Amino acid sequence: MSDIRDIGWEERIEGHAFPMRLQKYLARAGVASRRGSESLITAGRVEVNGIVVTELGSKVDPLEDEVAVDGVVVVWGSSHVVLALNKPSGIITTMKDYRGRRCVADIMPCDEYPGLYPIGRLDKDTTGLLLFTTDGELGNGLLHPSHHVTKVYHATVTGIMTEAEAQQLREGVLLEDGMTAPAEISVISKSRNRCVVELAIHEGRKHQVKRMCKAVGHPVEHLDRVSFGPIETGSLKQGVWRKLDDEETAALYRAAGLA
Ligand code: URA
Repeated sequence: MSDIRDIGWEERIEGHAFPMRLQKYLARAGVASRRGSESLITAGRVEVNGIVVTELGSKVDPLEDEVAVDGVVVVWGSSHVVLALNKPSGIITTMKDYRGRRCVADIMPCDEYPGLYPIGRLDKDTTGLLLFTTDGELGNGLLHPSHHVTKVYHATVTGIMTEAEAQQLREGVLLEDGMTAPAEISVISKSRNRCVVELAIHEGRKHQVKRMCKAVGHPVEHLDRVSFGPIETGSLKQGVWRKLDDEETAALYRAAGLA
């Protein structure tokens, strides 16, 4: 017990902060939403170590304390989560910005999921799917080049990309940091002086899609990520996040080589 308590409030073990507020504990254990958990507490339905607790500020240590709801003991299993955000433009991919710029932490439920961090980055002006997790092993696995996790982007570019230019991108183009790996490229819509190109790549170099399109003469005007491995943005609205369900989470672990 002392080793856990000694590390203090801000310290973390495997992404969990100890001790944590009772309503956060209940929400993270999947008993109810944070609001629902607060109602359970104030209704006197929650016991900690056999004593009814109605104080919302009460803290528990998930490894030491026994919490029960309506007399049923709550099981604290692996509470790692994966969340998907449809990132809006104008937001930087960092959990803290010392210059006060808007960052993804302003949108994500960092309080509810201590240790949450983004899996990779999207540029400030890029929109679309950005995944977050509390599981460092999952994040590392998904970003590791050996796992070839495919990311699909829709790039609105200036001018109409020809088939020959698309073929160059498929085969690889030379950027300042070397040749790009083979990619799947298709022009999915055209207007008079711009077109939308779908690019499926598995590398994750800085500004990669923008640099690839520019290398064949088509600067990117707008970039949107529509999928990351098995997960798609789908109908998720910009600026909104959701928790992945068990099936989606399992598919991501498989993609990361952590079946
Ligand atoms: N490639 C880019 O150029 N920018 C992004 O945000 C993501 C991929």
